[in-house]
Amino acid sequence: MNDFSLILALRLIHIVSGVCWVGSIVFMTWFLLPATRATGPSGGAVVQQLVLAQRLPAYLIAAMLLTVISGLFLYQHDSASFSGWMHTGTAMTFGTGAVLSIIGALIGVFGNTPTAKRLGALGASIQAGGRPPTAEQAASMTMLQVRLARLSYAAGTLLLLATAAMAVARYIP
Ligand code: HEM
Repeated sequence: MNDFSLILALRLIHIVSGVCWVGSIVFMTWFLLPATRATGPSGGAVVQQLVLAQRLPAYLIAAMLLTVISGLFLYQHDSASFSGWMHTGTAMTFGTGAVLSIIGALIGVFGNTPTAKRLGALGASIQAGGRPPTAEQAASMTMLQVRLARLSYAAGTLLLLATAAMAVARYIP
């Protein structure tokens, strides 16, 4: 594979996986999670289905890894273009976007994923009991939902800022 085809392939992977990753996080944060909180147990069943049965976190982690790894290769390729590249506005803006998206990714992997799994498992045990949740279960459910919402707002905002930086970087002198 020559340099041109390699960069084309990396850009394709980077942008398509980035769109899937960030688009899903934005949809979940600002639409799906508020809707599931507003609809109570039936909303919880949707999260449980997405997280435990359809393994949404695994797909999001795969899209995140493809975006970040291809981005790092692209950054390394661009930085070899000329010796002063790292000090240009373009490089610093790509770099800022990269740092923001990596922080967003870490929040997703170490914050959102375990919280969503605990929420899904709690929903499943309430359903299996066949009775309304106990006061303790209801309190844990609310605590996990609030934590998931906060983590999602943080990760979603960082990823939107990272995407904005990626979108304009090439034109920053
Ligand atoms: C939120 C996640 C990300 C999204 C949505 C995203 C999106 C994009 C988009 C749309 C472009 C095309 C910009 C253009 O050609 O003008 C791009 C380019 C680029 N991105 Fe990202 N990106 C993300 C994360 C990252 C990360 C983690 C890195 C790691 C260093 C990175 C490094 C780069 C580089 C170096 C380019 C320029 C590629 C080239 O020269 O063709 N990106 N990104």
